[in-house]
Amino acid sequence: MSSTSQNTHSKSLHSGGRLSGKVRVPGDKSISHRALIFGSIAEGITTVEGLLPAEDPESTASCLRSMGVEISEIRKGKVVHIKGVGLNGLTEPKEVLNCGNSGTTIRLMLGLLVGRVGKHFVLTGDESLSQRPMKRVGQPLKLMGAHVRGRSDGNLAPLSVYGQRLHGAVIGTPVASAQIKSAILLAALTADGPTTVIEPALSRDHSERMLKAFGANLTVGGEIGRHINVLPGAILKGQSIVVPGDISSAAFWLVAGSITPGSKLTIENVGLNPTRTGILEVLKKMKANLQIINKRDVAGEPVGDIKVSHTTQLMPFKIDAEIIPRLVDEVPILAVAACFCNGVSHISGASELRVKETDRLAVMARQLTAMGANIEEHSDGLTIHGGTQLYGTELDSETDHRVAMSLAIATLLAKGDSTLLRSDAAAVSYPDFWVDFKRLQS
Ligand code: S3P
Repeated sequence: MSSTSQNTHSKSLHSGGRLSGKVRVPGDKSISHRALIFGSIAEGITTVEGLLPAEDPESTASCLRSMGVEISEIRKGKVVHIKGVGLNGLTEPKEVLNCGNSGTTIRLMLGLLVGRVGKHFVLTGDESLSQRPMKRVGQPLKLMGAHVRGRSDGNLAPLSVYGQRLHGAVIGTPVASAQIKSAILLAALTADGPTTVIEPALSRDHSERMLKAFGANLTVGGEIGRHINVLPGAILKGQSIVVPGDISSAAFWLVAGSITPGSKLTIENVGLNPTRTGILEVLKKMKANLQIINKRDVAGEPVGDIKVSHTTQLMPFKIDAEIIPRLVDEVPILAVAACFCNGVSHISGASELRVKETDRLAVMARQLTAMGANIEEHSDGLTIHGGTQLYGTELDSETDHRVAMSLAIATLLAKGDSTLLRSDAAAVSYPDFWVDFKRLQS
């Protein structure tokens, strides 16, 4: 169905496909990063089943290996073994820590490293990561005594960390970001007193769940679980972790199955942590044909299989700041879904999208407009007039994995074929996306 040219990573995408069959999405990216990091500072061996074998977790693993942690090869279907070095066992790396394209890697590394007294670390990343704001992490860590320096007054990578003795603190985070929260929680593990993080809204809680499982002295309280308290000093113990499939990757198939006539899909082993299921809430409001089956609990995270089939009349939707933290990575594919709804959809309160791997509001508006979509871009969202015919054209992921996969789904319903430049971006979170895309169409 598609072909890739080695030089440009451009892919020919044919319209008119209907999707059917079963798909098992790769492991959750957020949980994979955390398993690697917490396993590294635990005592003993941690085993991880289902760890996402993709570029972003590879970046985290390579940083940790540079600091003396033995992590076995990360390969599809292979259990990963991490030989933990204990809370204080990370060594000073000889090389710069390269975080690649991964915001989670660099931000969680900051939290992990600021308390390594007397040790020096330099962190950098690719073109995209070097433009993303880091002060949102450096600033709260500074309240604990951290030293983080970098371009643009400490906001941009490359960043340098000089490990300090940290103090416990009560910190209110300015945005509901699991990356900021998790960085503070990591720093809190080696502080000299208790730390409390207060979020403006609940962001994904994988760190809290997993740190508790590893034996950290962490409690969650306050209104809707927004106050997280950590008492330092607890020894983390190696665990056996099973990583569920990533709902953010499942989202492409959920939308594809809903919008393409004749489609019928089962997406297996999807993580259903309530801090991540905003996409399901919206699809239900759109009257999509979804059914969750085989609900179960896997290693402290809720999991299920999702059946989805084509819906003739998808309803338009309105989402705002309240739900954004629960679907922050699904806004690009929701923008695609909105193009095929019967009416006008509104996305607001989503200015965080502007500081992701790309400015996702601008990029999705630009690329979908090139296909003929009727979209207005606002400072914090999009207004999408559904029901306009889309046309195949030359598209560009602009290096963003979620944009690449979202656009691929849009081309299924366009009139005429498309070419997607920089389609290889998908490998950041879903290396087999193009294989699954082809297989589900046949
Ligand atoms: C992530 C948190 C989110 C999300 C990112 C992964 C994490 O970012 O967009 O893909 O693993 O903590 P923010 O925490 O900045 O919203």
